[in-house]
Amino acid sequence: MSVPSDVLISPRGEARLRHGHPWIYRSDVDPGGATAGEVVRVRGARDRVLGHAFYSDQSQIAIRMLTHDDRPVDDAFWRRRLEAAIRFRETLDIDATAYRLVHGEADLLPSIVVDRYADVLAVQTLSQGADRLLPQLTALLVELTGASGIVERNDPRVRGLEGLDQRVSVVHGEVPERVPVRLGPVEYDVDIRAGQKTGLFLDQRENHAAAAGYARGRVLDAFSYHGGFALALAATCTAVEALDVSPDAVGQIQANAARNRLPHVQAREANAFDELRRLEKAGVRYDTIVLDPPAFAKHKGALEKALSGYKDINLRALRLLAPGGILVTCSCSHHVDEETFGRVVQAAAADAGATVSVVERRTQGRDHPVLLGVPETRYLKCLILRKLDESA
Ligand SMILES: C[S@@+](CC[C@H](N)C(=O)[O-])C[C@H]1O[C@@H](n2cnc3c(N)ncnc32)[C@H](O)[C@@H]1O
Repeated sequence: MSVPSDVLISPRGEARLRHGHPWIYRSDVDPGGATAGEVVRVRGARDRVLGHAFYSDQSQIAIRMLTHDDRPVDDAFWRRRLEAAIRFRETLDIDATAYRLVHGEADLLPSIVVDRYADVLAVQTLSQGADRLLPQLTALLVELTGASGIVERNDPRVRGLEGLDQRVSVVHGEVPERVPVRLGPVEYDVDIRAGQKTGLFLDQRENHAAAAGYARGRVLDAFSYHGGFALALAATCTAVEALDVSPDAVGQIQANAARNRLPHVQAREANAFDELRRLEKAGVRYDTIVLDPPAFAKHKGALEKALSGYKDINLRALRLLAPGGILVTCSCSHHVDEETFGRVVQAAAADAGATVSVVERRTQGRDHPVLLGVPETRYLKCLILRKLDESA
């Protein structure tokens, strides 16, 4: 193993580390001779070693901490980190064959994501350091999980911030066109090369199950993707309408409904903004509505427009909801925190003239852990609400 370069960080950077944040920004870093994607030794005041980290020569996040001591970051280190992440999932008693195996910083494996789809894995390496590690990571994952195939789903745009290209390729074994998996009672055929995220919205898996516990009657799932909520809710509901703006997604919902023998799940292509308005005009009522739109605020500049989008769909949904009905409303925008999202939904309820109680405040599933002190890792908000029946 070569000797790591020394990188010096400022007192402000050191203070960030003391507060438990794993990233140091470029303005607080003197990289010395460090190279792109190198695992460096981080030093602070009086040359004290603060740990080892991935170094990026492009991103504003120049340092992503790996350790807080001077132990070598070698093959045995990566094996221990991966083993710990895998072992933690084994303790969760997950009722699914697809789930997240490695969730970046929250597994002490910064910018590395691994999703399991039965015996196939999808891997993302989202920083220069993680990207350099890919061959080693692949070999260790094969050894530790027995995966028959691994795809690198390195198509997220954030890689551009690291000067990395966007690519999708098979890095180990065989990966079928469609991988059959099960989330709770629902079966899916997943395209892990081209589906959104790495194929499914695995972060919503536990919310699908939680929502199913309250859902009943006539259901509208307005941003359905492959039917995550629609299919999970179908068991306890009489009729389920699933909408998505993407024709591919609609085709996939229909195929999934047939595969799971759920003929009362009907999917149609629609822009939810227009369709919610049309349904309201037509005087339609639902007993359960799910809103799980894509991230409206992709960057801070888009925040105002995003909040008005969230308010609009929640207002329409609350008007469409029958008294006593359940609204499951989500936001996966990193830039919209839980308090702000709650305020927007509250404003929508006020405009809709609805009195609403909070049944559950939820976040992403336990296989996507939140890092304490790093609020941006709690990105998924999921409120389960009840529109109270004031006529009762
Ligand atoms: C976050 S995903 C939904 C995930 C899904 N609820 C699940 O648990 O698997 C958002 C979906 O909304 C769809 N979408 C985006 N804009 C839309 C719009 N204006 N109307 C309807 N669907 C839209 C996207 O195609 C995507 O499939």
